[in-house]
Amino acid sequence: MDYININKQAWDKRAKVHLGSKFYDVEAFINGKSSLNAIELEQVGHVEGKRLLHLQCHFGQDTLSWAREGAVVTGVDLSTQAIEQAEILKKTLALKANFIAKDIYQFGSENKDHFDIVFTSYGVLCWLHNLNDWANTIANALVDGGEFHLVEFHSFNDLLDGHSYFPQSEPDVEEEGTYTENCDGTKSTTLTWAHSLSDVINALIQSGLRIEFFKEYAYSPYNCIEGMEFVSGQGYQMLHKGQQVPLLYSIKAIKSAINS
Ligand SMILES: C[S@@+](CC[C@H](N)C(=O)[O-])C[C@H]1O[C@@H](n2cnc3c(N)ncnc32)[C@H](O)[C@@H]1O
Repeated sequence: MDYININKQAWDKRAKVHLGSKFYDVEAFINGKSSLNAIELEQVGHVEGKRLLHLQCHFGQDTLSWAREGAVVTGVDLSTQAIEQAEILKKTLALKANFIAKDIYQFGSENKDHFDIVFTSYGVLCWLHNLNDWANTIANALVDGGEFHLVEFHSFNDLLDGHSYFPQSEPDVEEEGTYTENCDGTKSTTLTWAHSLSDVINALIQSGLRIEFFKEYAYSPYNCIEGMEFVSGQGYQMLHKGQQVPLLYSIKAIKSAINS
């Protein structure tokens, strides 16, 4: 199955829909609002003058938000539509950024550049079939002492939603719309893969990265799952039998000279 092209078609369609959504609020972004959330801003910290690689950057709002924070940014995404929109946003805002329309694995096999920070977030891993190649792409792109930062939706919620928590030999094939409020019901075929937390962590360890921390969160900045409720000052939570569901996790990992 040509999963890259099937998912690319879905993301090309989604990118167009997302651009006009309140969820992504491009107008506020153009007017100066950062698309980054407190979790990643605190985790990644000071980026001024640092070379930052943003994997699966979608149409570039987070990448350009890091540029506004002073980082020298490169964003990579499979969707040519998303990257075209990222280039338009970049020009509109007169910011500097290098955007690359490429499958992450192809990018990883060709990339010769090195970065101080590799960042990726919110809804990225389910699109990838091979986490070892993903982690090696990150490790190879980092300078010695460079940092990897992941903020991702917790797979526990996928389980509650009826999907496998543990990896399967075949991807999940679904016909689905998108997660923004302006989705008109148009569906695309998507192919996704389940990844348990241990698989994510072990892929990073095997690539030679040293995990500095792993955190889990009961609140999400995004209202993108049915049944979420807003808690003032915290974000969105979801209760299962009266208990909070883990909604996000984050990982910081370092490439130390000793392991490279
Ligand atoms: C949920 S979005 C990323 C979320 C991002 N935090 C945002 O909202 O801007 C997932 C992105 O992964 C990209 N993607 C999916 N499969 C990919 C692959 N094999 N290589 C590179 N990018 C991929 C999609 O095109 C999409 O832009």
